[in-house]
Amino acid sequence: MACVRESIGWIVGESTPLKSLVIFDKSNNAPVKAGDYVVAEGPEGCVLGIVETVWSGHRMLPPSVTDPEAVYHIAEWTVQAGGEDIYNRGSIRWLALLDPLLTKKKVVTPKTPVMPGSTISRADPSQLARIFSPESRGWIRLGHLAGDDTVAFHVDANGLTRHLAILAVTGGGKSNTVCVLTKRLVGQLCGTMVIFDMHGEYSNMRLPGVRIKVHKPPKLHPTKITTDELFTLTKMTEAAVRQRRYLRWAWHTAIASYYKILAKTTKQYDDIVGLAKNLMEALSDKGKLKNIHNMIASGKPENSEMLKKNITMWLRQFLPVGLSEIVAEAIVENEYYPPRQVVMDSLEGAIAKLEDLEAYYSEILDVTAYTNLMDAIPPCTLTVFDLSELDEDAADAIVSHYLRRLLIERKLAKVGAGGYRYPAIVVIEEAHVLVPKDGGRLTKYWAARVAREGRKFGLGLVLVSQRPKNVDPNVLSQTNNKIILRMVEPEDIRYVQRASEEMSDDIASLLPTLNPGEAVILGKMAKLPALVKIDECSPEEKPSGGDIDIVKIWLSHKEEEDEERRILEAL
Ligand SMILES: Nc1ncnc2c1ncn2[C@@H]1O[C@H](COP(=O)(O)OP(=O)(O)OP(=O)(O)O)[C@@H](O)[C@H]1O
Ligand SMILES: [Mg+2]
Repeated sequence: MACVRESIGWIVGESTPLKSLVIFDKSNNAPVKAGDYVVAEGPEGCVLGIVETVWSGHRMLPPSVTDPEAVYHIAEWTVQAGGEDIYNRGSIRWLALLDPLLTKKKVVTPKTPVMPGSTISRADPSQLARIFSPESRGWIRLGHLAGDDTVAFHVDANGLTRHLAILAVTGGGKSNTVCVLTKRLVGQLCGTMVIFDMHGEYSNMRLPGVRIKVHKPPKLHPTKITTDELFTLTKMTEAAVRQRRYLRWAWHTAIASYYKILAKTTKQYDDIVGLAKNLMEALSDKGKLKNIHNMIASGKPENSEMLKKNITMWLRQFLPVGLSEIVAEAIVENEYYPPRQVVMDSLEGAIAKLEDLEAYYSEILDVTAYTNLMDAIPPCTLTVFDLSELDEDAADAIVSHYLRRLLIERKLAKVGAGGYRYPAIVVIEEAHVLVPKDGGRLTKYWAARVAREGRKFGLGLVLVSQRPKNVDPNVLSQTNNKIILRMVEPEDIRYVQRASEEMSDDIASLLPTLNPGEAVILGKMAKLPALVKIDECSPEEKPSGGDIDIVKIWLSHKEEEDEERRILEAL
């Protein structure tokens, strides 16, 4: 028979087109493991399946047995009889008809069940290699099948625009998987990759043939941030309506003035935050503000020069001569009129927040930051935004800022209106922090947009997390692809199962048994679901996030102290 080679067992019980139970032949030397591929002859032809679980039993030792002595005798007798009463069973998930898979590279699922009593055998490794290691353009190697290290496992890089979640317990091999992906995507395909790196693991990564650009600390150009990003940086909650109003006015005015100054002088003016603060301080001057509003209210066009003069006079108390005129001009031309009512407590609160912004984030908000996205995130390069020295609010502002700009500029590029010209894959490490299930984060909003719309614009999102149950379910369930390494927490496993159509109970039960680097891979980027051993980046290539050898540090300190004592005693 073309399909079945050496029998390793038979189908028993009732089958469906999707699942069968199997009893394994005990004469089979190499034990069948979960993740192995098998074939059987079905009514529609040869069918390829994956062993999802295996279990053993003993006919004479049912769970109801209670007498230890009886168990002892039965066990002894079993050894003498060469394990006669032991049986090995398994469950198989049927994945695809083999013939279309090999000849047309098409996944056609069977519609009729494989008959009970049918023989099953191991899939032919050379056929598995044709399925899982296609040499087609854009297919990149991630590792090899866990059950057969001769069969390389490739994924389709194009499938990454349907997004990916890399999930595992801590130390399960997530960062290593990102390292392997980077090596292949950037090194082999000249892909553009961005990693938002919460712990600064990737900044020192060295990959042969991979250009790496590190932003440490990442910067935002003040003219490019949105007011929402500014509110996040200044920690202004939605409830702080007045504070937000004052800041919005001051910020818009400061930016408009910045452009005016740039146009007038060649000198770089960089203190946008300082100017915004001065403008808010000007608001505290209530009496003159009233005058200005009376002028605005009278609304005659010939008033505009008067208005400019009046505003200039008002600003002179807070700004140097020259700058006051330019700012007044910006206010009048853009109609950024100061708010009518000013509540001093709120104003002082807003000024204090801007002072904190100056104190903590002056390095981030910087007019020397790239304004062009192509410069900040160069093509054919791994760009690392090292967020390790920032708090969560600043990290949120940075990540959402670049996600937003990438999405908007990819849309522009698609319609030929400039924008960011290259497709990109964006990795968010510790996704549970910035794309949390509970609470609103700007990054969560933009990650959800990228997850929804990114595919059409060649923007792929990769979420990495060791706490999947704390990641927003909406975004997580939009990641069509999953690389799930070792996971033990039942709630995490159930949560991931809910977010993934393809993950059966049997596959879920495998997750706690995986070794570091072993992963269940599901989704459109993979030809078929597989249990894979991911390649390992070498120590020189690796992200440096491993555990610290604390004992080594303590002992070397002790050695130093001992040495000092010896020297002192010798004197
Ligand atoms: N594919 C692999 N093959 C062999 N060993 C691996 C593999 N992946 C990871 N490991 C081992 O596990 C260790 C932890 O891997 P890694 O740092 O990638 O885990 P992580 O899931 O990112 O952990 P964390 O949650 O702490 O960020 C590695 O230093 C390595 O020793
Ligand atoms: Mg990691």
